[in-house]
Amino acid sequence: MKTLRCLLLAFLAIHGSFAVDRNNFKTCAQSGFCKRLREQKPEKSQYALDLTSVMVQGNTLFANVETIDRESEKRTVLHKYVLKLSAIQDGTFRVEMDEAEPLYPRYVPQLALKDTPVPDKLNLVSKDDNRVIATNSQGHKVVITADPLKVEFYDKSGDVALVMNENSQLIIEPLRKKREAVDDESGNVVEVDEEGTWGENFKSHHDSKPRGNEAISMDFSFPDAEQAYGIPEHTDKVNLATTTSGEPYRLFNLDVFEFELDSRMALYAGIPVLYAHGTKRTVGVFWHNAAETWVDVVNYADSNVVSSLVNLVTGGQKQRVDARFMSESGVLDVFVLLGDKPKDVFRQYTALTGVAPLPPKFSLAYHQSRWNYVDEADVASVNEGFDTHDIPADSIWLDIEYTNTKKYFTWDLEKFPHPSEMVSNLTAKGRKLIVIIDPHIKREAGYFLHEEATERGYYVKNKDGKDYDGWCWPGSSSYLDFLNPLVSQYLSEQYRYDKFVGTSKDVHIWNDMNEPSVFNGPEITMPKDNRHYKESESGSEGPAAYWEHRHIHNEYGLYYIRATHQGMLDRDNGKYRPFVLTRAGFAGSQRYAAIWTGDNMAEWGFLSASVSMCLSMAIAGMSFCGSDVGGFFKYPESELMTRWYQAGAYQSFFRAHSHIETKRREPWLYDADTLALIRDANRRRYALLDFWYTLFFEHSRDGLPVMRPLFQEYPDETAVFTIDNEYLLGDKLLVRPVLEQGVSSVKVYLPGSRTRTLWYDVDTYQAHQANGYINQETPMSKIPVYQRGGTVLPRKERVRRASALMAADPYTLVVALDANNTASGTLYIDDGETYEYRNNKYIYAKLEYSPEIMSYTFINENASYATRSWVERIVIAGIKAPPKTAKLTQGDKQTSLLMTLHKGNDVLVIRKPGASMAKPWKINFSY
Ligand code: GLC
Repeated sequence: MKTLRCLLLAFLAIHGSFAVDRNNFKTCAQSGFCKRLREQKPEKSQYALDLTSVMVQGNTLFANVETIDRESEKRTVLHKYVLKLSAIQDGTFRVEMDEAEPLYPRYVPQLALKDTPVPDKLNLVSKDDNRVIATNSQGHKVVITADPLKVEFYDKSGDVALVMNENSQLIIEPLRKKREAVDDESGNVVEVDEEGTWGENFKSHHDSKPRGNEAISMDFSFPDAEQAYGIPEHTDKVNLATTTSGEPYRLFNLDVFEFELDSRMALYAGIPVLYAHGTKRTVGVFWHNAAETWVDVVNYADSNVVSSLVNLVTGGQKQRVDARFMSESGVLDVFVLLGDKPKDVFRQYTALTGVAPLPPKFSLAYHQSRWNYVDEADVASVNEGFDTHDIPADSIWLDIEYTNTKKYFTWDLEKFPHPSEMVSNLTAKGRKLIVIIDPHIKREAGYFLHEEATERGYYVKNKDGKDYDGWCWPGSSSYLDFLNPLVSQYLSEQYRYDKFVGTSKDVHIWNDMNEPSVFNGPEITMPKDNRHYKESESGSEGPAAYWEHRHIHNEYGLYYIRATHQGMLDRDNGKYRPFVLTRAGFAGSQRYAAIWTGDNMAEWGFLSASVSMCLSMAIAGMSFCGSDVGGFFKYPESELMTRWYQAGAYQSFFRAHSHIETKRREPWLYDADTLALIRDANRRRYALLDFWYTLFFEHSRDGLPVMRPLFQEYPDETAVFTIDNEYLLGDKLLVRPVLEQGVSSVKVYLPGSRTRTLWYDVDTYQAHQANGYINQETPMSKIPVYQRGGTVLPRKERVRRASALMAADPYTLVVALDANNTASGTLYIDDGETYEYRNNKYIYAKLEYSPEIMSYTFINENASYATRSWVERIVIAGIKAPPKTAKLTQGDKQTSLLMTLHKGNDVLVIRKPGASMAKPWKINFSY
């Protein structure tokens, strides 16, 4: 199969036509439940709540719901459900609905939530003959209309923020047994053939659907919303498109070979959180479901949507977004995040699903990867190449070819006979090794993993209960069933140093193909009727005895990286912070791994997509995101390669990677000019590494995206709602990478005119008053990046081989003044690799500047990290009236400081203050 893939690639490389094979992937119409649900457009919801059943217990309101046959004269009840509404801390509500007595338990994701959500108080305010009203402690109100069932959420000012089932698209298909009837001819009782219910076909694959149909759906209306965002991973814009006349957005983790741009097709990750935003408020819904999901979106501002019919329904509302989630299985379980600003909903989402923990510092630096560095000599020469050419780099990656014939946790001992020595050669330069471990296990006699997994029954089973056998890189493969806690633990144990020989604390892990990818499976993944472990009551049998892959699909990759992460913690008894990279993603994946956007192409459009895709990821909790710098398939010529490095240097995960069949492209293989530009891009990354590290530390506390869409910080500025070619790092830097070929200038939108925001070009310190678009010249050496006036940024400007060697280096502090001549910033410092920061062994400091005083003080008061770093230089940009003297005080020591004024651009440089960063200090200015 691999050879087949390679041949195909070689063919395509010659003939130049790369494109996704759409035939491999379902459209909504080919996906039974999507077609079924999308076709249902009831005028009036069948669902009605029984008001007499309403009961509140703790923070939850319970009520019975029934479906009613609207056609019949009498009130005929078709099916019974239970609805729960819970108040969760910090402006969040949870709505759950399941059948009152489901034939089998329905699956609820096990790993997406970081903990049990913290309850808020729920007050039952009133109940009349058709409504129940409840509130939380924050002043949000929920109005449930009984018949037809509708749930309205009100913001704190008393306006409707979100309506569920406004469009009557609530559906929970009841689980049932096959229908039986007496056959006219034979007189025997036979199963009735109900088309599509008990089986579906796609291409040559048959899905046996042992439980029949079990889909769920709900619609959400967001009055006043101007745009919707979220539900990655897709390749179209950050602001979601209206899907009425095309395909819905699809969330189903898939390995899409040569995926295409501007598409709503499913990709490797599927994170079911959607936000609706307008100048009035921001609201989010987190659809807690791991099954295949499709999402329809209607934005009423899209001119073609506001037909007269819609006008009739909405009373001519132009600012409104509707979204409809449809999942193949599971219970209806929705978290409503009531905002009311972007920052609130992003925080509310990470409060539920967790944040990215503080990463080891090296992982924020530059990574060099390729499929494959072929042997130890190759690794050594790449390692040396970075030194010879004076380019900082923190890691070298080994792809699947390092293994003994794709048997993970083994080495190809011919090519890699001395793994520990190879690792030592890297660590001697301050670098790390990262190796790939994939979830498919080669079915080869004698391979310990395969034999143990088989013996212990650790593999995912096929529909007949036998070990599932699929095709992936090693050929015939089976897949560990992580739903069994013993299997997760088993995988974790494989990372022990005595088991994974040659590894050490400086070897980190790349988990790929974890959608999971199965080359010969339906849609290149596992059959949905495969069986997973289920903790069952004894005696449960038939479909109740296992979970089908259908139920858990989008969560599989998360189970896998969780086990890897745990294994890496355990191998050092929890001393060092692991770094894991994943390709698949689901809600909660941020707690264990960084993510990259998979197999992109060396084309300008993919460079552009790297920004919008990572922005969508970041607001869905995955801040640690990047793309293959240079593009995976094809070869980037100098200009594209340069621009990609320049863009990558300002994205969270910064790694160059390439396909095995492509021409080698380490930076020094390019011409001297390109090499110099790449070197410059990497050095810029390293200069700002402490800023990145501080941003990730802050993310781990506040859960906010590191890479931010402009609307997060400027939620009232309508013009930024659709901008996704520029973004903010924290609230301090604005980045507008050059994403276009052959341009000599780009338009950069500078937000914040209403607050008189200043933006300083980081290269020239030239200040721009925010006022919409400016034109920025972009010679090849230019990366348009601007520091917001009012901020202080830490930089380290000594050039080193790797970040580890920069620990004691001095800081340059760049103070960019706002209109009031003030600025502030933060700085986080620790050992970069252990968990000692949890014992207060870190410094989290505030840097504040006013015309009279600049100070460095500790936010964590008992800070005890003995950094050897010091202040080498302070650059103050935008200074109109420079001080005459500057006096540094640290402890009981006072020093007069030297200053140089650069009149041309209003920059004052304080030379060699020399203050230690291990203790607070201040500088007093006099005029
Ligand atoms: C997948 C990955 C790619 C990797 C390759 C071989 O295609 O996305 O990054 O190089 O597998 O492991």
